[in-house]
Amino acid sequence: MTFKLVNIWNPKGGQGKSMIAINLAAAAVEMGLRPLVICQDPQGTSSMIYKAGRLPFEVISAIPKDKPDANLVLIDHQASDWELPQGRLLLMPVKPARTQYKTYVDAKAIAEKSGKEIITVVTDAQHHRTEERETAKRLVEKGALEIPASGVFSRADAQLITIFDKEMNKAYKIKDRRNDFLKILGAILTDALEGNEGDKYGA
Ligand SMILES: Nc1ncnc2c1ncn2[C@@H]1O[C@H](COP(=O)(O)OP(=O)(O)OP(=O)(O)O)[C@@H](O)[C@H]1O
Ligand SMILES: [Mg+2]
Repeated sequence: MTFKLVNIWNPKGGQGKSMIAINLAAAAVEMGLRPLVICQDPQGTSSMIYKAGRLPFEVISAIPKDKPDANLVLIDHQASDWELPQGRLLLMPVKPARTQYKTYVDAKAIAEKSGKEIITVVTDAQHHRTEERETAKRLVEKGALEIPASGVFSRADAQLITIFDKEMNKAYKIKDRRNDFLKILGAILTDALEGNEGDKYGA
């Protein structure tokens, strides 16, 4: 099976890497794909949620030697990991607060120099704060996707599930938040047309 590889990368902690990894994988299951999450950190969030046993896909903590039985592989990188991932497609989550944003700018510059394809996802923007709202707006104008600030993520986290779990069906604006992930998945799959599909983890 060939698979699509997406590295979820931003060396800054707490930007939404793990949140996106598991929810994007859950969105992929909804669409009939076979996702696999590789969590770089065995103590990391996606590994821990997986251990609770309620995810409809696997999370493993090392890159497998053999070709995985999956058609979408999401690598959930850990904080402070400045090593540029090998695959061509990077998904970079970023919270637009001033203290968080600089790391994204620096990391993205490194990635661009190496010719990476980057999908930026603005997460948790506090739109009542002028600066965050303006930063988010600018990023979206330049093609970033956005997952607005929402309580559904902490609610799902508390139950060790994703927002696609049926437990979340009645949560506030759940359809909108699920659609955010389907849209990101769409952007990733469209990129497949440009030849980012392969059977190895390298570029
Ligand atoms: N759009 C959003 N709305 C509300 N909360 C969010 C949103 N995006 C992310 N969060 C929250 O931000 C926190 C950090 O997210 P997460 O753990 O996924 O970040 P991370 O980049 O994986 O961090 P680390 O680098 O430490 O692994 C989590 O509590 C997550 O639920
Ligand atoms: Mg994480």
